[in-house]
Amino acid sequence: MQRPNRNWETRRLSARPPSDLDARIIFEEYASDPKVTEFMTWRPHKSVKDTLEYIRRCERVWAESTAFPWSLWLKEEGEFAGFIEIRVGATAVDVGYALARQFWRQGLMTEALSTVIEWSFSNPEIYRVWATCDTENLGSARVLEKVGMEREGVLRRWLVHPNLSDEPRDAYCYSIVR
Ligand SMILES: CC(C)(COP(=O)(O)OP(=O)(O)OC[C@H]1O[C@@H](n2cnc3c(N)ncnc32)[C@H](O)[C@@H]1OP(=O)(O)O)[C@@H](O)C(=O)NCCC(=O)NCCS
Repeated sequence: MQRPNRNWETRRLSARPPSDLDARIIFEEYASDPKVTEFMTWRPHKSVKDTLEYIRRCERVWAESTAFPWSLWLKEEGEFAGFIEIRVGATAVDVGYALARQFWRQGLMTEALSTVIEWSFSNPEIYRVWATCDTENLGSARVLEKVGMEREGVLRRWLVHPNLSDEPRDAYCYSIVR
């Protein structure tokens, strides 16, 4: 499969791997916010140091090609908006994402995710793009439906979302295939 571009754009967003210079804004607007992390697999960052460690992890996974995380920025205002990340298997791509709270409900993740799906299917060996979300994460489920994914079922006791419970919780599995 072709390697994803480090930089890409949608109508309102530009995407690029995060850098150390972004750590403070990512921490303040996003990673420290318990509402943003509620359904995520990680706990809110306590200091910029945690965010710098996350940025190190982003650099490492890009270098290893095990995952491709992009920070998202409003093109016009230059504001930090959130993250989207893909993991690429032999024939499938799976996606994760989150936005800073001030940018929820403006159609931004629908825009970013549609572009990622389009890019994934531009690779002839990719037949499936998929994602999971907690069964109580209504916003995320709706985004997945809006980009044309279908709900395949419930993955019972799939993932620990430590901000909600120490036990693994049920998740919906969504996909789009060709
Ligand atoms: C989930 C998330 C990415 C949604 O992104 P978004 O840019 O706000 O979503 P969009 O504006 O593209 O909305 C798409 C649809 O979902 C709906 N929606 C968004 N948030 C919603 C919510 N909390 N409850 C119900 N519906 C919601 C929108 O109304 C829209 O549907 P509509 O066009 O029929 O009105 C964002 O809420 C977020 O970052 N949440 C925290 C992190 C997270 O949960 N990530 C996903 C982990 S699986």
